[in-house]
Amino acid sequence: MPNQRHASSMLTPDFDTYPARPIASIDVHPLGLEVRYKDGQVSFHLAADLREHSVADDTTHAVTREALLDPTHIPEGFHISAAQLADDGFVKVTWSHKLTPSDTGQARYYSGWLYQTGLYGDADFEADLSPRLWTAETFKDIPRIDGSCVIDNEDEYFRFLKTFIQYGVVLVKGLPAVPEMIETLPEKIGVIRTSNFGRIFEVKIKADADSNAYTGEELRAHTDLATREYMPGLQFLFCLQNDSDGGNSTLTDGFAVANHIRTTDPQTFNLLSQTPIDFVNKAKTSDYRMTVPLFHLGRDGQLDEVRWTSWLRAPMRGSFDEMSRLYSAQKKAYHLGNSSEFKACFKLGVGDMICFDNRRVLHGRTSFDPTSGGRWLRGCYMEREELWSGLRMVARAKRAR
Ligand SMILES: [Fe+2]
Repeated sequence: MPNQRHASSMLTPDFDTYPARPIASIDVHPLGLEVRYKDGQVSFHLAADLREHSVADDTTHAVTREALLDPTHIPEGFHISAAQLADDGFVKVTWSHKLTPSDTGQARYYSGWLYQTGLYGDADFEADLSPRLWTAETFKDIPRIDGSCVIDNEDEYFRFLKTFIQYGVVLVKGLPAVPEMIETLPEKIGVIRTSNFGRIFEVKIKADADSNAYTGEELRAHTDLATREYMPGLQFLFCLQNDSDGGNSTLTDGFAVANHIRTTDPQTFNLLSQTPIDFVNKAKTSDYRMTVPLFHLGRDGQLDEVRWTSWLRAPMRGSFDEMSRLYSAQKKAYHLGNSSEFKACFKLGVGDMICFDNRRVLHGRTSFDPTSGGRWLRGCYMEREELWSGLRMVARAKRAR
């Protein structure tokens, strides 16, 4: 039997650590608890919800820390009979009902947990992680990460994750130039996502290419796998050889382009964010299709995704007027995405890795002459949520120190 602890010996019903938040006063309401903190903040907790998240042995599993109760276990009229602020800073609650034979009818709540879950929900990253838009000019201002220490130095790794989220791209310079590095750094974050190109794909010249990526052709700014229901959230490209003529890498902040269109031409923005476009892939062994607008907005109306691969667009359908307006709108977006104003161009060095949000940042390359030298990149995909999970784990470890 593993070293099993009683849930009731834990501070919180999870694996996180929270700084104490001194409480000034508490008030019991018919439906729950109001907590006032000494820093002036106030949190509100529904009695039934609070009961479900107590650390009693019959409520939170001692090993998994997952809940054992759900709303069907809470009787109608359930409420808090009394609550008091204990000398140790915890809130002690007495319930109106006992729910199980072992239920003591009471529970204790840690101030830090009440504060964080009641006011914010997500972890405190101690950083502004909102998107920072960039252009070809300001791309150079995005912090570069030192590949010689990003794997082992937690502070540099934390900076890497934050930069990745803020700018949608991070350039790691000077990693050890070994093929397996395309797994080592991504897997420090989370789980690699496989695709029809395999778990790890080799960007090099292929005789029987199933993508222009595997030829010497120019690749215009694009997102990968626009035909898939869930486009990969993240992409990693690691350079192992790059001595051919041409083959410079390009990156474009798709959110910056979309935001530019939104502010300067709202009609085109509305068309591109509301009109579904058919994307289809061309391959001998798969036939993926997806129909969605070029720009996708989240619940808050902010940009959540750009789906942007010109060569995967299917032939259009509709009236001449509809098709013409949508075609012109796409033309404007694709033009801006490949313009010198928005598209940064640079040469990847051996040992460099570009890591980018594939639903935000467009990538591409200039053409190259395969006879002039070798060009070999290794790539893989991952979901966006892996990046956030990785960041939360680092933040959690910092709080636990
Ligand atoms: Fe690509």
